[in-house]
Amino acid sequence: MTLSGDAPGAVRNPYLVERLQGFGTTIFAEMSALAVATGSINLGQGYPDADGPREVVDAAIAAIRAGDNQYPPGPGIAPLRAAVAEHQARFWGLVFDPDTEVLVTAGATEGMAATLLALLEVGDEVVTFEPYYDSYAACIAMAGAQRRVVTLRPPDYSFTVDALRAAVTPRTRVLVLNSPHNPTGKVFARAELEVIASVCVEHDITAVTDEVYEHLVYDGEHIPLATLPGMRDRTVTISSAGKTFSMTGWKTGWVCAQPDLIEAVRTVKQFLTYVHGAPFQHAAAAGLRLPDAYFEDFAADLASKRDLLSGGLADAGFTVYPSSGTYFVTVDIRPLGATDGLEFCRSLPERGGVVAVPTVVFYDDVAAGAPLVRFMFGKRREVLEDAVTRLKALAR
Ligand SMILES: Cc1ncc(COP(=O)(O)O)c(C=O)c1O
Repeated sequence: MTLSGDAPGAVRNPYLVERLQGFGTTIFAEMSALAVATGSINLGQGYPDADGPREVVDAAIAAIRAGDNQYPPGPGIAPLRAAVAEHQARFWGLVFDPDTEVLVTAGATEGMAATLLALLEVGDEVVTFEPYYDSYAACIAMAGAQRRVVTLRPPDYSFTVDALRAAVTPRTRVLVLNSPHNPTGKVFARAELEVIASVCVEHDITAVTDEVYEHLVYDGEHIPLATLPGMRDRTVTISSAGKTFSMTGWKTGWVCAQPDLIEAVRTVKQFLTYVHGAPFQHAAAAGLRLPDAYFEDFAADLASKRDLLSGGLADAGFTVYPSSGTYFVTVDIRPLGATDGLEFCRSLPERGGVVAVPTVVFYDDVAAGAPLVRFMFGKRREVLEDAVTRLKALAR
């Protein structure tokens, strides 16, 4: 790719490209290609291998057949905004006005991109925890802002108050929090959220939360940061249907915040995708209104898969760090005589027939992330059993 000059296809915005240099191809694309090339079990990328609830599928089909196939309204269809508001009240006790405080987006990814582009000026700083989901770093860079990271350290991926305070400067505008957290499976505890909230209030920082795994919690409880004192009106809460309903390809998400923040995010969002996926918006609304039993059974099933894979990884010799939520469990590879997670994951498909993701790609502090690897357990039981058998053979 050319950064300047007159060659055909030359990139005309060298500043943007420069900011994104180093991001390269995502690790998920590289590892998924390896899985295909080697016929390995793909426990790398975070998508389930079975569809979600029948009611949700039927709602999408019904919407298509009913002719809901044109551009939906800019803020999202009214039934989905209402269902999001109901869901926030039902599960988390958060009250949002569906007309002024809810915005539908093309997945949480677009919600995060539009929010960061709306809130950040060139030169602003964003505090986030590492390992961080890769799109945050890219969006912060696209906004011309800088990230300052606070490292979460195993075994419990905790952070120190001093490290958080040290990351805040007079330029800090935004703090991004992902809980339940990808890739570690950490569910931030109330005491940790209280520290984060007090820092946001003290320094007048807007919090942006990524809660796409809000219903994938097995130990402890999910506590939205917006529920803490002083946080409701300074938090942009983002989630989506992809993980909760096992439909990651539908890319239907939402943003909840006070009206001024929603207006700012909507202004940017309209020039990203404008709108998207009308039938899937109807389906997400149906999903959010499913009875409690759906959400409970879903989490119980994933918890048993978490146990199956975590146990298998421990039997294979890895140091396994506890995962309380998400699809993911992380391990330290050093007991197997390896130290470089990237190298380990690049050779694992050939050696062991399994694909995993090196979490070092989500760290600025490369030494902290080097020996850590993420495995995904949101697959069918027989697939996980096969993967465990293969990994145990590798250890022998
Ligand atoms: C932490 C986190 N945020 C956002 C996303 C993407 O969400 P969506 O598909 O709704 O854009 C993912 C998907 O893996 C994720 O892990």
